[in-house]
Amino acid sequence: MDTYYPLKKVAQIFGDNNLKFSIEELERAGDIPASRKFRSGALFRNGWSKAELPLIGEKVGYFPKFSKSVALSVFTTKGGVLKSTLALNLARTAALHGLKTCVVGLDIQGDVTTALGYDFDIKPNSQLDEIIEKLDQTKGLNDLFAGQVSLEDIIVGTDLPNLFLIPETPELVALNDSLNNINRREFWLKEKVVAPLKNYFDIIIMDCSPNWNKLTTNALVACDSLISPLECKINNFRNFKVFSHFLKEFKNEMRLNFENVFIPTKFAPNKKLSSDIFTWYQENVEGCTSLGIKESVTAEEAMALNISILEHAGLKPIGRDMVTLMKEVHQRVESSLVNSNREFGHDQRILSAQKFNFNGARP
Ligand SMILES: Nc1ncnc2c1ncn2[C@@H]1O[C@H](COP(=O)(O)OP(=O)(O)OP(=O)(O)O)[C@@H](O)[C@H]1O
Ligand SMILES: [Mg+2]
Repeated sequence: MDTYYPLKKVAQIFGDNNLKFSIEELERAGDIPASRKFRSGALFRNGWSKAELPLIGEKVGYFPKFSKSVALSVFTTKGGVLKSTLALNLARTAALHGLKTCVVGLDIQGDVTTALGYDFDIKPNSQLDEIIEKLDQTKGLNDLFAGQVSLEDIIVGTDLPNLFLIPETPELVALNDSLNNINRREFWLKEKVVAPLKNYFDIIIMDCSPNWNKLTTNALVACDSLISPLECKINNFRNFKVFSHFLKEFKNEMRLNFENVFIPTKFAPNKKLSSDIFTWYQENVEGCTSLGIKESVTAEEAMALNISILEHAGLKPIGRDMVTLMKEVHQRVESSLVNSNREFGHDQRILSAQKFNFNGARP
């Protein structure tokens, strides 16, 4: 059964209760689909189907299409720091705003594939041998690499009409190995996957594993902007230092000029150490966003429900933060596209100052 969204909920998803009036006006003017009656418990209410949300989002939202197609990679060399959460939230936010969106899963753990509700077409009452056959039938990037399928064959739909996915399959391990043995081994994803996808999609989002492997270096070469979570925890400092060093070297050696967007995550404002770390990131990490993602049970719930924080709790503090963050990321990505003709070599600095004076801790 299709889920329906009443006016108030739609306004919340797009981050502002007052949008109710604009949505009603657009409906009267025939600029968005007319709401329909649906059953909600014992009552009948008016609302829109999930498939209609992107038609409303592109009119009233805050995440418009970019001036050209854009590819984002979400990566840092630390596990559990909200990479997949960010990938899911970026993808659903973009799709809810009407952007044609494709997520490319590059992590063998398959978290973003699961979060987008891809179930390998397995029915709840399937037999084991049926399930195994279905799992074997799912084609992915490794099959594309082997020339057994075309790119269209591995793109699957999701619950939103304009949100698509290239699902992760266990054979990504083999692909990672195979990429080591070809010429232009860092460019395969860019040339064979992301460039053709850009002809059709407005935004491509790659969710990486925390490992520095061939799949991730391919994702770095293929992206216009890199989104890197920065966990607001003390043990992330050393990791960040090593990561930023590797990244800088890789960008220089590969002549890459993508934008770095660092996002503080799992920030606990009521803990002094967490607040100090957050402040340190903001003062010392070039490209750090002004807002972080706070530690939040609501956000965890959203991830468990396979939806974005906005769909789950648009008007709660975490939802409002998310709106501000998504706007900032959008603005950063768009301005980097505008400046993308700038000469290589500018903007290569990641640490803006080497002031390691935070509580005596040296990152
Ligand atoms: N705001 C939040 N605060 C605390 N936990 C969160 C928040 N948002 C999501 N989580 C939970 O944190 C866990 C790790 O998140 P996620 O899977 O996005 O990390 P990751 O960096 O992709 O991990 P991996 O390196 O394993 O791929 C998940 O269980 C997720 O539900
Ligand atoms: Mg992940």
